[in-house]
Amino acid sequence: MLQQEKTIKFDNNGQFRIMHITDTHMEDDNIDASLWLIEEACKRECPNIAIVTGDNVLNFDEPSKTKRYIDRLMEVFRKYGIAAAVTFGNHDSETGALSREELMLYYSSFDCHVKNSEEKKPFSGGTYNVPVLSSDEKSIKFNLWVFDSGDYDKEGHYGCMSKEDVLWYMKKSDELKNNNGGHAVYSLAFQHIIVPEVYDALKLTKKRKLYSFSHMYNKNDYYMFDPDVTNYGTLNETPCCGYENFGQFDAMVEKGDVLAVFSGHDHTNAFGVRHKGIDIVNSLSTRSQSDRFSSQYGYRIIELDENDISEYTTRVERWYNMFTLSDIKAIKRSGDKYGVKIASGVKFRGLIQRFMTKVGRVFCHIVTGRKNTYKH
Ligand SMILES: [Fe+2]
Repeated sequence: MLQQEKTIKFDNNGQFRIMHITDTHMEDDNIDASLWLIEEACKRECPNIAIVTGDNVLNFDEPSKTKRYIDRLMEVFRKYGIAAAVTFGNHDSETGALSREELMLYYSSFDCHVKNSEEKKPFSGGTYNVPVLSSDEKSIKFNLWVFDSGDYDKEGHYGCMSKEDVLWYMKKSDELKNNNGGHAVYSLAFQHIIVPEVYDALKLTKKRKLYSFSHMYNKNDYYMFDPDVTNYGTLNETPCCGYENFGQFDAMVEKGDVLAVFSGHDHTNAFGVRHKGIDIVNSLSTRSQSDRFSSQYGYRIIELDENDISEYTTRVERWYNMFTLSDIKAIKRSGDKYGVKIASGVKFRGLIQRFMTKVGRVFCHIVTGRKNTYKH
């Protein structure tokens, strides 16, 4: 396939929009619905780049099937002229039929996928960076880190960014800084598995309480939102971080370039908490139609303004909020019967789920004074 470098840059108005897509888990029973919704989201949001952070397509025993599904995902980005940057989760290479390196080569073969210009290949398949040029294309204005947080360690616990990748990040960060007059290049990082330091930004409770969740590896410790440091969002499940830790978060703190690190993996968590000056953010799964939470899933948008790149804004868009009744009527008029089924499905299942969740939350807040959801 033709290799073509796509310029990633702030638009002429100085804006840059990222769509964070994660955990699409594409398999036979959800690929059509998930892709239909992702295409609708791309049409509405027109992002400059889609960053896809793993558990994208289940790694089938048959490599040709995995590739066929990847073709369909990448076709959505190609169709709308959206650049894509992909990394991997714990499931992408799980069967071993296609390694992460083989998968990276395959994703990179699409014109719309960003190209890795590193002379030395990254140590893991899905670790690289994407410089974002200024609107006049004269300088690197911002940077996106795409990190491979691995799959599992030898004991079967969830993985983390490897030691070699952490060292590569530190070296590359210094290189960007040196080429930027000695100033760290502001960045956002994207990966599948959340950093273990998320627990440092949550409140430890020794007893199980409403809206507290046991630590991934220490079941006697429970954690919940700490209103003093919670920025926004909902904590719905235990953050499933890696067991090992090769110092990724400390390295990011030391380098001072990363404003926020975005993860997926924990499908129902959508929150942002701050620790040591870095926002630790989790995004919802972007899949649909394969479990009872699917209408609550969606995607995250992150927006940057060239005039102040020390800050970003972000919002979560859930499938159930995406379609008004007029939208559904318009889809019907267009003759897209499948679209009507999907849009009305997520809307009406979402209405019931939202009602139940709201009643539960209000009741629990009145009785216990505790919340698991905070707004900006
Ligand atoms: Fe995962």
